[in-house]
Amino acid sequence: MSQFRVTAISKLRAEFSVPGDKSMSHRAAIFAGLSNGTCTIRNFLPSEDCVNTLNAMRSLGATYDVLDELVGYGPINLRIHGQSMKLSAPSEPIDCGNAGTGMRLLAGLVAGQPFSTELFGDASLSSRPMGRITIPLGQMGAKIETLGEKPGCAPLRVHAATLSPITYEMPVASAQVKSAVLLAGLFAEGKTTVIQPAETRDHTEQMLASFRITTTCEGNTISLEGGQVPQACDFTVPGDISSAAFWLVAAAGIPDSHLLIKDVGLNPTRTAILKVLSRMGARMTEIVHHSLGEPIGNIEVRGGVLSGTTILIDEVPNLIDEIPVIAVAAALAQGRTIIRNAKELRVKETDRITTVVEGLRAMGAEVDEFEDGMEIEGGKPLHGAVIDSFGDHRIAMAFAIAGLFAKGETIIQNTECVNTSYPGFAHHLDAILHERSSASDFVLPTLATPH
Ligand code: S3P
Repeated sequence: MSQFRVTAISKLRAEFSVPGDKSMSHRAAIFAGLSNGTCTIRNFLPSEDCVNTLNAMRSLGATYDVLDELVGYGPINLRIHGQSMKLSAPSEPIDCGNAGTGMRLLAGLVAGQPFSTELFGDASLSSRPMGRITIPLGQMGAKIETLGEKPGCAPLRVHAATLSPITYEMPVASAQVKSAVLLAGLFAEGKTTVIQPAETRDHTEQMLASFRITTTCEGNTISLEGGQVPQACDFTVPGDISSAAFWLVAAAGIPDSHLLIKDVGLNPTRTAILKVLSRMGARMTEIVHHSLGEPIGNIEVRGGVLSGTTILIDEVPNLIDEIPVIAVAAALAQGRTIIRNAKELRVKETDRITTVVEGLRAMGAEVDEFEDGMEIEGGKPLHGAVIDSFGDHRIAMAFAIAGLFAKGETIIQNTECVNTSYPGFAHHLDAILHERSSASDFVLPTLATPH
């Protein structure tokens, strides 16, 4: 079992880029595989989650050639051979690993095929709710059995079916559900419409546009006509702002720090973390330097003293993955931080309300737990502790950041899981702990210039 051992640092001065965006990498693998030609994907996230989706597409017929890889992890630059919407039956069940995004999007993709597919995942994924996709897909005519020990959970057996379009009003604000229904809608004859209760990350809509699929988006309502074939294109994945968030919090909270994160995705449906940290007093600038579809840019942070804030209800879907590390920032900040209306955190890779609350309390923070979130009275000195990630990558990384502010040593156990979203995190952490700051100290390749 691997672990991180973390002690406090006096400052963070560094300049680097984080690996490719996880949400966009899943979608790039899927849309390139459906397209009518060969697509070159650059800066793909070579993490377990995304490599599982890539291999799922390969088992559905969309093969790929690796151009460059992060040795020991997976492809970074690759060519995917699209199948013009004609997928083939997989010879065995498809392993989605730990990835809710992979499983839910793939379920939408295979729901309307003339063959059956079985999708399975690890213990965490097998306990996460799948009713949120099996219900709308079932309304479209999909025949999906949930085979898990827990009712409504994976493995999923998706039988051959012919789909009809629907208008679906989503009960939860989830980009995964939206994307599953839209992907299924591509295989249904007629117009499929999804209505979101609040704005969620719009990478599917952006990528549909890059692949020349016509959609109509009015406010939170998105529609597309089935039968359109994605037109092959090349795509460069920006760095993942959810991975950058860990270092943003670390730098923002340590006076005299200066951090430049380069070539990161700045899609406005993902940047609420920047607004929240600015409200907390972080001195931060973001500069978009390239925007063809998805905006890419640099984020610069200078350290200071943080103060508590209230997370607004509309911000929650936009920063749901960043809440564990925002909670760490809240523990460092002066005053109270209120994180409510975030019940969705209970059905992530772990119950992130409980794992965050218990971990922060173990380090000396004052935290109240609620069914839909937590309130943190910041400013109490943190001390080192032994923290179990419970196999949740964002818990492992958030508490590594907390350890940078704690007296004594913090040991985070069970850290292999960070490879599901941030291969190379341990190298970056090591360089920061040893105050190495030049770009060459960071082993991950920087993003090629998009064109
Ligand atoms: C994702 C959507 C979010 C997020 C997840 C990635 C996506 O999940 O938490 O990490 O790529 O669509 P929900 O759709 O369940 O909110």
